[in-house]
Amino acid sequence: MGSTYTSLFITYYLLLCLSLIVWSLEARDTKAESYHSVQLSSLLPANICSHSTTEPKDKGSLRVVHRDGPCAQQVQVHKSAPTDAQILEQDQYRVNSINSRISKKSIKQTDGTTLPAKSGATIGSGNYIVTVGLGTPKRDLSMIFDTGSDLIWTQCQPCKGSCYSQKEPIFDPSKSSSYLSVSCNSDYCSGLTSATGNTPGCSAAASTCIYGIQYGDQSYSIGYLSQEKITLSASDVFDKIVFGCGQNNRGLFGGSAGLLGLGRDQLSFVQQTAKKYGRIFSYCLPSTTSATGYLTFGKASGNVKYTPLSTIARGQSFYGLNLFGISVGGIKLSIPPSVFSSSGTIIDSGTVITRLPPTAYGQLRSVFRQQMSSYPSTSALSILDTCYDLTNYSKIKIPKISFFFGSGTTVDLDFQGIMYAGSASQVCLAFAANGDDTDVTIFGNVQQKRLEVVYDVGGGRIGFGSAACS
Ligand SMILES: *[C@@H]1O[C@H](CO)[C@@H](O)[C@H](O)[C@H]1NC(C)=O
Repeated sequence: MGSTYTSLFITYYLLLCLSLIVWSLEARDTKAESYHSVQLSSLLPANICSHSTTEPKDKGSLRVVHRDGPCAQQVQVHKSAPTDAQILEQDQYRVNSINSRISKKSIKQTDGTTLPAKSGATIGSGNYIVTVGLGTPKRDLSMIFDTGSDLIWTQCQPCKGSCYSQKEPIFDPSKSSSYLSVSCNSDYCSGLTSATGNTPGCSAAASTCIYGIQYGDQSYSIGYLSQEKITLSASDVFDKIVFGCGQNNRGLFGGSAGLLGLGRDQLSFVQQTAKKYGRIFSYCLPSTTSATGYLTFGKASGNVKYTPLSTIARGQSFYGLNLFGISVGGIKLSIPPSVFSSSGTIIDSGTVITRLPPTAYGQLRSVFRQQMSSYPSTSALSILDTCYDLTNYSKIKIPKISFFFGSGTTVDLDFQGIMYAGSASQVCLAFAANGDDTDVTIFGNVQQKRLEVVYDVGGGRIGFGSAACS
């Protein structure tokens, strides 16, 4: 009897100890789960390019660099990179332009002029660059890649109107044996209306199709619709890719040679390479302007959680997501799901700062500010209104932020995807509010940093993995 009692007692005692240990571990876990401990220096851009340890290995894989950082040396032509205020102002033009495309509202320019809605094809300020080979023999060209637009174009000789300065020599079709022009009666030519928002023109003499694409910041490219060989690697070569050979170009394309459109329209690079890659591509955007990521075409291999791809009415070339909610520092914001469903949500590689409905942003900001209240706040940086002066800190704690998407997919943002650091004295919450709750919610590229983002367009889904590049 005595021994049974003793062993029961010991068992009970052991169970108690065990549950106490489990309880204390859980308590510690919940606490650790609510914030990132971060070296401040890791948020600040460095002056030298450190190549990622996860360099592209696959054949259909390209290295991704930030337009304005030291890894894009061959691209920079201006003495100084744009300021943060300029980048954020550009970003607002892009967002205005996206909304005008979706809602057919007019684009409001800051100088008071208003562009008609049909000119509102999106881009101008895309931030990430890959190098592709064009023509025969191939010329390497640095192109901004952009999931928010469709047309592929590059500056071409002769620059009849004007060309902006780019670092690499401007493509000369007369020196390429694989160059072809597209005629006015081709389906590719009529396809321009949906890809660019503008009706194509036709050259009287040669009956060659003329494209024109304008962006919200009054950048544009005009030229001949053409076909060329595009080379990504020795085994990934594509003949007769339709692209714009731009003889009249203006804008802030950061010294890059043009744009690689990765939208959903028929003329995008994704659709034109569908036979080989099955309309699947993925990328990882590097954490800072001094690191590198990748853009891979074809099957993704990573450990990825998928959510259904949706379509935005009147914005069919955008990649839509179903966003349901957001948590900050372990606290789920009490935003009615209807706030997100009425705005609709897209994911965009070219919008820098995530835009939220004002109702959602207000809550996110208020919880974030509460949790950051021990840090000295400072003045706003352009559209970013929640900034901190962290000059006296080497290590900080940032509340974790998660996005809840359809099919139960939770995306935990990397710590690099939460703050936008101009300098140690101005580190800002990297989110902004839309003008009103009807503007589209945009999951921007700061928030995508270091995530593997898989666009399985054929399979109708978008995947997210974590810590996929440096
Ligand atoms: C940083 O520390 C110095 C010296 O203690 C102090 O004078 C300054 O106000 C602090 N700056 C901020 C932003 O807290």
